[in-house]
Amino acid sequence: MTIPHDAAARAERDPRDIKPAEIFKELAKGVLGQERALEFVSVSVYKHATGKVPGNLLLIGNSGTGKTTIMNNIQRLYNEVPEYRDLRAMTIINANLLVDSDRMEFRPDRLLQAVEQRARSVIGHDPTAEELRAAMERATICVDEIDKMSSVVAGKPNPIGVVLQQGLLTLMEGENVAYRTHVLEGGEEKQRTLDISTRGMMFICGGAFEGLYDQVYYRVTNPGSGEKLKSTAIRTADGQVRIEARFTLADFFRIEDLFAYGMVPQFIARFDNVVILNDLTMEVLKEILLHSYDSPFIRSKKFFEIMNIQLEIEDLAAALIAEQAEKQTRTGARALRGIFGRIINRIEFDPDGSNALKPNPDGGRTLTVTAAMVRRALGL
Ligand SMILES: Nc1ncnc2c1ncn2[C@@H]1O[C@H](COP(=O)(O)OP(=O)(O)O)[C@@H](O)[C@H]1O
Ligand SMILES: [Mg+2]
Repeated sequence: MTIPHDAAARAERDPRDIKPAEIFKELAKGVLGQERALEFVSVSVYKHATGKVPGNLLLIGNSGTGKTTIMNNIQRLYNEVPEYRDLRAMTIINANLLVDSDRMEFRPDRLLQAVEQRARSVIGHDPTAEELRAAMERATICVDEIDKMSSVVAGKPNPIGVVLQQGLLTLMEGENVAYRTHVLEGGEEKQRTLDISTRGMMFICGGAFEGLYDQVYYRVTNPGSGEKLKSTAIRTADGQVRIEARFTLADFFRIEDLFAYGMVPQFIARFDNVVILNDLTMEVLKEILLHSYDSPFIRSKKFFEIMNIQLEIEDLAAALIAEQAEKQTRTGARALRGIFGRIINRIEFDPDGSNALKPNPDGGRTLTVTAAMVRRALGL
């Protein structure tokens, strides 16, 4: 999906001709190691873009495995592909903001306010009622931390979670919501109530569902469950391979596990697919460190460019960092930042004080993060 410099020079395609495989390729530039999940996401985006069938998704994945990254990359896709112009009003909102816990009520207006704000900024001028309604009705709505809105939290009933799930499920079924706002009419701002249909919206809910891992693990490892953990080959930073029996949620997950977790069956039924993200392997973490848009290495590279210093990293150094990050299983790719920081922060403060700088023929300098530097900084 290369965007021509002169976008107008290319005839726009029917969204039906932008196939899931093409959507996948674009999303995969920013989301690494989640190919299976991205296949589902691409199909959902295709469904949403063509507007015939709903493509609502529930993303389940440990912290730092890429849930928000997937949402951000869908937004990037909408922004970059001219044919997706009408889909650009996308919003990411935390589930707990959609309920008023004092009054125990669902607040769709808060959701629509977030969508409206986004729609207005996409439209770029004071919209008419019709323009605003049209943009809002094609919105993609991402609801984060949906797992915190379980009907049971820490073994206790969580009624507000039920309120949220029931409210959201009604919207996902397709509802008309009366929404008060102000719009431009005959050159004047007027108070209006828009009748917003949610039928053409896409809903993507995401959560870490932390207890779900243990819950399914116990079910599976319970003697008599008849299930068996799969053995996989694990590669270490220095290239060795060992075999480990690993529990992977995706291998054993059943939809009923979500009901036991405290999700309302009718709510879960509104999703087209429940998608489980992979925990990130050392190889993927290394790729993320070296290549993802907002990796701490890439950020640091940009920082050093200001000082006319080219930042490089040895392959083994990157592998060692990735290996350490993989050990912090609860934070996923987020661990990269802290670990890389322990190596680079002091050098960013005083590059000349490090002995890692080498002059370049062109007058600038190169700074290479070596395996030795990583081992020293991390005490390996
Ligand atoms: N699969 C992935 N591909 C690329 N980068 C990722 C991936 N997973 C996490 N990251 C990086 O890790 C950080 C946290 O990821 P995020 O998507 O916010 O995690 P979460 O699953 O908790 O929402 C981000 O900086 C992101 O760039
Ligand atoms: Mg997130």
